[in-house]
Amino acid sequence: MAVDVLLGLQWGDEGKGKIVDVLAPRYQVVARFQGGPNAGHTLEFDGFKHVLHQIPSGIFRQEVQNIIGNGVVLDPIIFKKEIEGLAHFNLDLKKNLEISKKASIILPTHRLLDAAYELAKGKEKIGSTLKGIGPTYTDKISRQGLRVGDMISPNFPEKYKALVDRHKAILDVYQYEYDLAEAEAAFFEAVDFMKQFPLVDSEYSVNHAITEGKTILAEGAQGSLLDVDFGSYPFVTSSNTVTAGACTGLGVAPKNIGEVYGIFKAYATRVGSGPFPTELEDEVGEAMRQEGREFGSTTGRPRRCGWIDLPALKYAMMINGVTQLIMMKADVLNIFEEIQVCTAYEMPDGTVTDQIPFEITDIKVKPIYSTLPGWHCSLEGMRDFNELPAELTNYIAFLEKHLNLPINFISTGPDREACVLRGSLA
Ligand code: GDP
Ligand code: IMO
Ligand code: MG
Repeated sequence: MAVDVLLGLQWGDEGKGKIVDVLAPRYQVVARFQGGPNAGHTLEFDGFKHVLHQIPSGIFRQEVQNIIGNGVVLDPIIFKKEIEGLAHFNLDLKKNLEISKKASIILPTHRLLDAAYELAKGKEKIGSTLKGIGPTYTDKISRQGLRVGDMISPNFPEKYKALVDRHKAILDVYQYEYDLAEAEAAFFEAVDFMKQFPLVDSEYSVNHAITEGKTILAEGAQGSLLDVDFGSYPFVTSSNTVTAGACTGLGVAPKNIGEVYGIFKAYATRVGSGPFPTELEDEVGEAMRQEGREFGSTTGRPRRCGWIDLPALKYAMMINGVTQLIMMKADVLNIFEEIQVCTAYEMPDGTVTDQIPFEITDIKVKPIYSTLPGWHCSLEGMRDFNELPAELTNYIAFLEKHLNLPINFISTGPDREACVLRGSLA
């Protein structure tokens, strides 16, 4: 079977964790292909709320094989904590979770470097989650990083020391003060812990699964507008978050990609720095933040909030080749009398465009809005598209017209059950 891909079309936190968990019973394999503990994927079911950072969101479905792919940057210390946090769910994790030997390892010094670089940037900081993502991908690309497979090599301590010595030299240049002893002890303990899990050549696992006709879902992290090539550079993460990232991050040939599920919020949010044309820095944005509980799942930071941005969404759909649209958090807009939709941008010279200009990080574009009536009622308990209020179906139809693709799945609350399906998903 082909590999279906599920990813965020905005700046992350669209609700990927929830939807992977909802779709997982249709799949035999769920695989993460990029990012690392900068991700926070929230799942809610049976009164539990659980946030996953590196472990794929298919983990709560016993029959699903979960894979951490080669494109991921993995922090052993956080991995150990995550596994321990799952103890009371009685899952057979050593059977249901495989880790690619080619995944990169985040060292404690990668986190220090992240902090040193951000501090040095001052006002220009990226707003990184400070999990060491950028420095770890930097070492991967500059061909000096450590990988999960290195952990079982007898000379791992020497390889570790050689890289850490290089990091220490950089930290000295930045005059960054640190105490590594505690983190280093936790790191080696966590590395030993990780060795209990199947460390595999996951490109073989994935491709054997394809050949055997198994159903496979690739789970994206972050969002398309944080992609290192196509996002608002430099205010991005350090991986390819788009569909192509699933090919390189799992070893899947492009011809084996099937459906691409694109997830977006009915509005927009962003954590960290960078352009956000529809941002609302007023009481409307604050109301969205409170109603949507828009505080980071990884860092707890308040998320910046704003109206939906169709030029940005269309761009993300183009790069990803989205075949299925899923709209999240429709319920958060229940509180508004009117809803704004950005359909184009006015450039500083007065011209109008529905494309994202290269200069987006340096100039201020003015969103051009259409105003639609709100539905102003609760969506609780609604499961069928025909039950939705007319203003909401009108809102959906407006988006569909601009996006040129049906929205067949609408999420109306954080719980697994709070979903409205129109027809059936592919
Ligand atoms: P992810 O990173 O894309 O997995 O998203 P996060 O878990 O970081 O953030 C999404 C947040 O919205 C989480 O707190 C979810 O529990 C919550 N959520 C998901 N879907 C819905 C929805 O339809 N309505 C509401 N109100 N909350 C939702
Ligand atoms: P999920 O998978 C939202 C943002 C950070 C920062 C920028 C770079 O939960 O959607 P990094 O730590 O990668 O160097 O940070 O990217 N960012 C996210 N924002 N959701 C995420 O993941 C994010 N992962 C990174 O806030 O602006
Ligand atoms: Mg998140």
